[in-house]
Amino acid sequence: MFETLSQAPGDKILALMGEYAADARPTKIDLGVGVYKDEKGVTPIMTSVRKAEEKILSNEKTKTYLGIAGNKGFGSAVLDLVLADSVERSRVRIAQAPGGTGSLWVLMQLINRARPGATVYVSDPTWANHNPIALNAGLKVATYPYFDTETRGVKFEQMLAALDELGAGDVVLLHGCCHNPTGANLTDAQWDQVAESLKRTGALPFVDLAYLGFGDGIEADAYGTRKILSSVPEALVAFSGSKNFGLYRERVGAAILVARDAKEADITNSQLLNIIRGAYSQPPDHGAEIIRTILEDAALRAEWEEELGVMRNRMISLRKKLADAIRERSNSTDFDFVADHRGMFSLLGLTNDAVEHLKAGNGVYMTGDSRINIAGIPEDRVGDLADAFLGAIR
Ligand code: LMR
Repeated sequence: MFETLSQAPGDKILALMGEYAADARPTKIDLGVGVYKDEKGVTPIMTSVRKAEEKILSNEKTKTYLGIAGNKGFGSAVLDLVLADSVERSRVRIAQAPGGTGSLWVLMQLINRARPGATVYVSDPTWANHNPIALNAGLKVATYPYFDTETRGVKFEQMLAALDELGAGDVVLLHGCCHNPTGANLTDAQWDQVAESLKRTGALPFVDLAYLGFGDGIEADAYGTRKILSSVPEALVAFSGSKNFGLYRERVGAAILVARDAKEADITNSQLLNIIRGAYSQPPDHGAEIIRTILEDAALRAEWEEELGVMRNRMISLRKKLADAIRERSNSTDFDFVADHRGMFSLLGLTNDAVEHLKAGNGVYMTGDSRINIAGIPEDRVGDLADAFLGAIR
């Protein structure tokens, strides 16, 4: 049987974790995988999460099944968090899924049931796992212009012109906030224009919302998603609780669908539940119960929002420190974009040789496209990093 198989390509982001772990140099710096780290270089369990877990441990009475859509309290709390009042709830359905990736996966399968072989338009560039998930579902992938390698901002005019050309039956995958890998994001006014375009063309918006609260705050980061949902008849959202609740390995996320009316929402949801049942039957509960517990308890929620704010502000301050350190050393504003970007990442625009040089020569790890995880920057090594980056591009 297995002799028919050939070696599959490894995942570049996850492979980097292994390479970093195997590097014996004590001065190595990990700017690779998108995992938050505090000033001690630790990915902490948030205090609100700890408290929720303690509450769950003392209150939980059973481990019996919850059903295909998972934890219902989690579902409504996530809808309140993400959607607010942007869309009439009778048109919305939600299914808890294993992480943002699991949510993307079930929703891509759903698209393929509705429109077999439809094309999903992704930003150029996009998260390395978007294409495999879409292709594995039987869909096609194409790109729309996004990152301007000169300004390190968004090529908005080209992006909008490309979106204007799409039609009903096409799918547009958008990063709701904190674009991965670039860190370059749309302004509110640009979101308004994207929403207008989608409304006009009838292309289906599919929002990947993996970093809510990591950019400028929960409300600010939700602007684009809510604007889109309030403007169009149909939409999909893949929500992740991995980063904003620090629940990476618990695999908690949600697949959200918005249909034209309640009847179509029920029919579409029946297909979604059918996909889930035929894949993993039901999602794991622990992470969802933690999020439900936090969002439903005013004190825990306030504590979580504060912890999230600390993470966000730390990343914003690290961005500024790195941009300042490079400017001071180089007398140039070429890297000021790092301070303007938002979210966990910035795409530096270095060559592959420079990325390899930084790894081999300086022990600085980043993905091959020169994406850095801002939270991985050690506070006391910002100067070393600035020197290393400038050395690599000379
Ligand atoms: C990343 O982009 O580094 C994260 O989303 C982790 C992952 O699974 O790739």
